[in-house]
Amino acid sequence: MAAYNVDKIREDFQILNVKVHGKPLVYLDNAATSQKPKQVIDAEKEYYETINSNIHRGVHKLSEDASAGYEEAHEKVADFIGAKEFEEIIFTRNATESLNLLAYSLCNSLKEGDEILITQAEHHANFVPWQQLAKQKRLKLKFAKVNLDSKDKENFGTLDVSQFNELVTSKTKIVSVTQMGNVLGTTNDVREIGRIVHENNPSALFIVDGAQSVAHSKIDVKKLDCDFLTFSGHKMLAPTGIGVLYGKKNLLEQMRPFMYGGDMIRKVTFDDTSYNDLPWKFEAGTPNIAGGITLGTAIDYLLKVGMENIFAHEQELTEYALKRLAEFDDVTIYGPSKIDNNKNNENKILNDRTGIISFNIDKIHAHDVASIFDQHGIAIRGGHHCAMPLMGLLDVAGTARISFYLYNKKEEVDKAIDAIEHVKKIFA
Ligand code: ALA
Repeated sequence: MAAYNVDKIREDFQILNVKVHGKPLVYLDNAATSQKPKQVIDAEKEYYETINSNIHRGVHKLSEDASAGYEEAHEKVADFIGAKEFEEIIFTRNATESLNLLAYSLCNSLKEGDEILITQAEHHANFVPWQQLAKQKRLKLKFAKVNLDSKDKENFGTLDVSQFNELVTSKTKIVSVTQMGNVLGTTNDVREIGRIVHENNPSALFIVDGAQSVAHSKIDVKKLDCDFLTFSGHKMLAPTGIGVLYGKKNLLEQMRPFMYGGDMIRKVTFDDTSYNDLPWKFEAGTPNIAGGITLGTAIDYLLKVGMENIFAHEQELTEYALKRLAEFDDVTIYGPSKIDNNKNNENKILNDRTGIISFNIDKIHAHDVASIFDQHGIAIRGGHHCAMPLMGLLDVAGTARISFYLYNKKEEVDKAIDAIEHVKKIFA
């Protein structure tokens, strides 16, 4: 295996040459969205310059080419996550839409008193749809607890999976859990959680929110045995506006469509409508064709670098960053201190920390930290990270958050540390 050549990778990301406030951009906001390599940007341009047309509607050459490209992209996604067939891959706008689709399409089978189980550490996309559904249908929304014992530094922010043995009951209908927390950076052992869910209640549906994990590690839905997996393209080098819902075919077949309109129908009469085959039954209207095709290009790129290599590179950066952050006694880090150094990370028992590091500097607001970082040309996110309930449990208004991807370097961690020194000087 060739050595990981981060400088070579960086050459593909033109935006990394941009100057911000006169300083070279240091992009450490990858949990919010990733940058795009020139291969993806070129593929989008090529699509519009060579085959742009509507899919599944024309017999002309351009429409056939666009349809074939769009279908091939579904196949690439299926292979990428180990799905059995491309019918199980539905393109949506993003992970949020995928989760809303599930909340809408599954709600018919729910009745008053049924239970939905999530964790305390979900971002709003995997929280609000279930909360609102529970309110509408008088369901019970339950939360698996995250370890927030500040004295237990190694396990802070981890999820004890054994609690699912008690939490999953005969009333549990849906369990939806993030594989990688967007605040605490913890990877949850979703394989074991799924096993407990299905063992305790074979009719309960198990959803994995892969918004943060699919971009950074090798996922195999067959091994995970999840019923659904949701994720966004924009966090994995693809453009914004394209996301994925994976679902087991037999379940998708039983579910009602999320939206009605063109392409999702088989036959329409004045009296009734029958629906198209999967996945088109869930893709009403003209979809994001260019986005779908270029999500395929992004996957090609990730596979060429290698998901194991990307994961290992990010773990190295994380380990280094945690070591450097420990130099400050007035910096609090939220998340487990254990680092997962196993390169072959596929669905293994994790509960460890990955490349998302939330922190606060004593008495300094996260927005001030992020603003001063920006003056250094460093992009980080400061705030509640779309996880307000978790912020309440952490008893903070927000945190500053560094998040890595395949193009980040140790030197950029050093620049972030220098920026912290500067923040502290300003507020001294
Ligand atoms: N969920 C995204 C984040 O964590 C938007 O920043």
